[in-house]
Amino acid sequence: METKSFIFNVVPPNKGEPKWGIVLLNAFPKKVRIFDTTLRDGEQTPGVSLTPDSKLRIAKSLDKLGVDVIEAGFPAVSEGETEAVKLIAKEGLRAEVCSFVRGTKSDIDAALKCDTQSVHLVIPTSDLHLQYKLKKTREEVLKLVEESVQYAKDHGLVVELSAEDATRSEFNFVKEFFAKGISVGANRICPCDTVGVLTPEKSYKFFSDMSKTFKDTIISAHCHDDFGMGVANSIAALRAGAHQVHATINGLGERAGNAALEEVVMALHLIHGVKTGINTKLIYGTSQLVSRLTGIMIQPNKAIVGENAFTHESGIHTHAILSHPSTYEPISPEIVGVTRRLVAGKHAGSHGIRASLETIGLHPTDEQLKEISMRVKTVGDKGKKVTDADLMAVAEAVMGLPQTRPINLEELTVVTGDKVTSTASVRLKLNNKVVSEAATGLGPVDAAIKAVRKAILVVEPIHLEQYHVKAITGGTDAMVEVIVRLRKGDRTATAMGVREDIVMASVEAVISGMNVLMANYNKRGDKQAEKP
Ligand code: KIV
Ligand code: ZN
Repeated sequence: METKSFIFNVVPPNKGEPKWGIVLLNAFPKKVRIFDTTLRDGEQTPGVSLTPDSKLRIAKSLDKLGVDVIEAGFPAVSEGETEAVKLIAKEGLRAEVCSFVRGTKSDIDAALKCDTQSVHLVIPTSDLHLQYKLKKTREEVLKLVEESVQYAKDHGLVVELSAEDATRSEFNFVKEFFAKGISVGANRICPCDTVGVLTPEKSYKFFSDMSKTFKDTIISAHCHDDFGMGVANSIAALRAGAHQVHATINGLGERAGNAALEEVVMALHLIHGVKTGINTKLIYGTSQLVSRLTGIMIQPNKAIVGENAFTHESGIHTHAILSHPSTYEPISPEIVGVTRRLVAGKHAGSHGIRASLETIGLHPTDEQLKEISMRVKTVGDKGKKVTDADLMAVAEAVMGLPQTRPINLEELTVVTGDKVTSTASVRLKLNNKVVSEAATGLGPVDAAIKAVRKAILVVEPIHLEQYHVKAITGGTDAMVEVIVRLRKGDRTATAMGVREDIVMASVEAVISGMNVLMANYNKRGDKQAEKP
């Protein structure tokens, strides 16, 4: 561990540019260890329950991401959970695989059956938990620590010992608790901020004291986000001498969740200049996978991985971004594996709109650009979202270009039912050639979109990145609005479909987005006004 002053530059400036930053005094470790608890605390998010297969997929992704420890689950909880933890443990991952256990022999035996390298052994320390949950005295708790840690160590396990609700416990008792655990071989200790009541100042003080007391033991921080300070408290703990942080992808976890891994890591790397083993380029992909498999949507304005974190609409911002990205981007999107998006809307300016149109080879004159911007703003003023497909259609109309599309739907048939696998067959005109494909899916929408993607695969692989659906009127005959975001290479396009039929609305949105991604006026050679 070292104490140092660090002058930070969030985005490394180009040579010759003025540097900016502040001086922080800190005692961060040289490299912070990341203990990922997405598959345990994250899975405790209300409504989340992962199959063993999904847990394995996430574990592999976390391993690639570079976390140091994967808390794979709580084997004593169910047979499915035991199977999942076993699967992950035998995958031969680079990361340490850990089982969650309480201070009981039966929990530790369940972990032993899964063959994980370590256990996260948790016993409460606050009087509140002792009295109302555990129904034990402090003396009994100390005995429990001694017996359970000893038992785990006797069976060859690495032990991370956590004090649950430590931040609402009597501090001297927390110290006594850990001293007892260490005396029988606990390898790492973690005083948990179980209900997120620390503040960065309190966290700094708490962990400074802990690290002075337990100089030779790895200390973890486990901070919940009940007051929105989980990440700040974790950083303060690390700055005060903690070595490892417990975190979850997308900040999943009990109630308001845990410290978000992506936020902690990026703050460490870019604000504090502290390393972790995380390959930040894989952050966005991992976040998307976790969101898809858990079914927990990421709020659009979520730091680092939210839909809007690297999206710009307002004219002032877009103009500045185009002239120098660091004006409004403290993090370069490619560092976390995201692509910057400029979107059209009521606040959009002509620079952003021109840049968006140029990606598809449209070069409006200044006069045309003014008209396009005005029409876009009018749509925005009506409270409507302007997708990339809308922008292209507006530009074509203003520029007098024919709205010819490379992909046109000729026919779609979907078969679905209770005991039938949903199957869709599609016939498209693709660059004037007829292409037919069929696919099965988890439901009619999935089958139909897969069939369309398969059909156009002969020309381009296009991926569906986002899919949102909402009913815009009430009743069973409601109009359904589907908005999609598609990706081809490093380009993305949004599009919308509105129909009474959800399958048709989805297919319309997907085909419309694909048409934006495949549009290339430079190649088509349509006569456009001279580039200004
Ligand atoms: O928040 C917490 O205290 C926990 C423990 C059970 C480790 O998740
Ligand atoms: Zn927790």
